[in-house]
Amino acid sequence: MTPRRVLSLILGLGLVGSCGSSQQAEEPAGEASGGGEDASTLRGHMSANFNLALTARDGVIAGSMIQAREAAVQLAEQDYSVLLPPNWMPGVERMQSAARELTGAEDVASAAGSVAELAAACGACHAERGLDLSSSHPSPARDFGEAEDMRERMQRHQRAADNFWYGLSVPSDGAWQQAAQMLLDAPMSPTDEEGKAVRQELASRVDAVRAIAQRALEAKGEQDRVQVYGELLSTCASCHQGGA
Ligand code: HEC
Ligand code: HEC
Repeated sequence: MTPRRVLSLILGLGLVGSCGSSQQAEEPAGEASGGGEDASTLRGHMSANFNLALTARDGVIAGSMIQAREAAVQLAEQDYSVLLPPNWMPGVERMQSAARELTGAEDVASAAGSVAELAAACGACHAERGLDLSSSHPSPARDFGEAEDMRERMQRHQRAADNFWYGLSVPSDGAWQQAAQMLLDAPMSPTDEEGKAVRQELASRVDAVRAIAQRALEAKGEQDRVQVYGELLSTCASCHQGGA
């Protein structure tokens, strides 16, 4: 199935969901409530956006430019002007401009930067509308052991990547701080499957993640956070690329 077909399926599902609750929801959001916002239709678009943006982000983490670009193309090409009221367009434009940048990214570092900007664009629109989306992201609570093998360390990394993401896209200062702290709290050197410390070269690359977390803790403004998140994602990618 082509990516476009997948998108129309995803968007279709969102719309079907809203049709179930109200006949009127078949109208574009702007018309359904006379320039207002149809909540259930919107929610369908949001979960489609959310999934595409996460697919793009996880593509970057995995070092897969193909996955990241394909998801970005779908986000960039969606015609929101027929779906959302005109006064939404500035927020949508910022989101799609980040997506377009990602479709043209030539290396992992710039793709990572665009993904971070994308998350901030989501967050800016939510913040502007005073939305409290904190209940839409899962609780990050999770106990990690005193010692960690690589696999556990990677789960910690992934959890932190999620929380930083929520930090930017909800936006949530608490989620951001928590992400930084959970990376700083990691035991020093991860171990291999036999419980021995991993080789020095790997250990120091893992430590680079901790150094970024320290800067994340200090980054307060949106642009500083976008910068740090881009660097983090690009660090994940640099190790995973080529099946590391
Ligand atoms: C132009 C403004 C705008 C942009 C851009 C935007 N959102 Fe939203 N988002 C909203 C609004 C409004 C709602 C509330 C919809 C509702 O539930 O009524 C929302 C709700 C959500 C929700 C909660 C949905 C639910 O089930 O309650 C998530 C998750 C979400 N957005 C993610 C994203 C992500 C990820 C992006 C960026 C890829 C994004 N949004 C971009 C306006 C925006
Ligand atoms: C030092 C190199 C290195 C860095 C940096 C790195 N990873 Fe990994 N990652 C690996 C290796 C090696 C594996 C395979 C581990 C295994 O299963 O033994 C892996 C696997 C993973 C997995 C799959 C784990 C599983 O359960 O199979 C995830 C998810 C992951 N990494 C996320 C991240 C994220 C997110 C970051 C950035 C915050 C990151 N990694 C940074 C080397 C790295």
